Amino acid sequence: MHVNTELLHGAYAPEETTGATALPIFQSASFAYETAEELEAIFAGRDAGYVYSRINNPTLDRFERRMTVLEDGLASVSCSSGMAAISTAVLTLAGSGDEIVSGSSIFGGTYSLFAQTLPRYGITTRFVETTNVEAYQAAVTSRTKLIFVETVGNPKLDVPDIAAIAAIAKEHGIVLMVDNTVTTPVLCKPKALGADIVVHSTSKCINGHGNAIGGIIVDCGSFDWSNPRYAHLKPFYDRVRNFAFVANLRNRVHRDLGGCFSPFNAFLMSIGIESLAVRMERHCTNAARVAETLSQDTRVDEVRYPGLPDHPDYSVATRQFSGGFGPLLTLRLGTKDRAFGFINALQRAQNLANLGDAKTLVVHPASTFCRDATEAERQAMGVTDDLVRLSIGIEHVDDILEDIEQALNSAS
Ligand SMILES: Cc1ncc(COP(=O)(O)O)c(C=O)c1O
Repeated sequence: MHVNTELLHGAYAPEETTGATALPIFQSASFAYETAEELEAIFAGRDAGYVYSRINNPTLDRFERRMTVLEDGLASVSCSSGMAAISTAVLTLAGSGDEIVSGSSIFGGTYSLFAQTLPRYGITTRFVETTNVEAYQAAVTSRTKLIFVETVGNPKLDVPDIAAIAAIAKEHGIVLMVDNTVTTPVLCKPKALGADIVVHSTSKCINGHGNAIGGIIVDCGSFDWSNPRYAHLKPFYDRVRNFAFVANLRNRVHRDLGGCFSPFNAFLMSIGIESLAVRMERHCTNAARVAETLSQDTRVDEVRYPGLPDHPDYSVATRQFSGGFGPLLTLRLGTKDRAFGFINALQRAQNLANLGDAKTLVVHPASTFCRDATEAERQAMGVTDDLVRLSIGIEHVDDILEDIEQALNSAS
């Protein structure tokens, strides 16, 4: 199937008992069984069955299966947010004394998790320049438990060479975890580039309508979980072989941390999945047109968009993405005052901290989601005071350009 057909039909069938075509919302905390023996068998893993919605739930299960198909994976676990997905996935792999190697231009929330929160629990991160492949090699130690990159750094919009980084991860037998939030499986399939685990904030393009928060962890099925670097997974590997990561995740770490997804939000995300391909197509053509137009505009100091031929990672992006370069672009406007003036003058684009919505969005990263970072960290993330991030929506492109034009005029 082509991806736009897969979005509608992959792992999807009408509900078995009623024939309902929309995903039924099983809004139930728990699931009852006739006998104590039945429940015992499910808890013991001898029989399959739902027990409690913190651990599994039929609505979540169907959403997870759809995401697994889209990422060509083995199995998925949904979480209450993108950050819940990233933190839970990391804690399934790493513990006190372990290390992460991560690109430095990642989303501010993930950066803060790696730089501030995890060190308090003994997990440290070696940040490297995101596009410098040799730096990943140099940062690996015997304690490295994962290499982490985003398909497109947010908001620097740099594009790491995932296949080259995957080769390093493979050489050392280390998991490569890729955040595919900005590109989605429509534009990029990290597994085909060598990723082992894919994570998403489904709050963004997958949902597409800014009405729910969610996240997902997909095991691509490519990693050999008998690898002694992950000795804590051995008991799971002995029982369930290549499902060892997912078993430790669902039956231990996710169960214990409790960042479970709500069935209603899974319902909303499932609706989002169905129109993802057409939205991504329009996000990409609109964003490319805005980027091209603004790159000719002398009122803008710099336009960053991975689809512009003068972007430093244009050739990597062209190789790794198909069908476009995503909804995000950034502008530098010279000063923070001009950046604020531009944002305040926009009439249709909404000023908020989100991306991938059907509507065009704008945000000033330095004063919002990168606010916690130090000056040096902001520099590594490509965040300057005059930087504005636009998430281009699916409106008619002429209306988006008109709004930007009048805002630039009034900010000048
Ligand atoms: C690339 C990326 N990953 C993860 C997240 C975190 O997702 P959530 O807000 O759903 O926790 C975000 C949020 O902006 C993001 O942009």
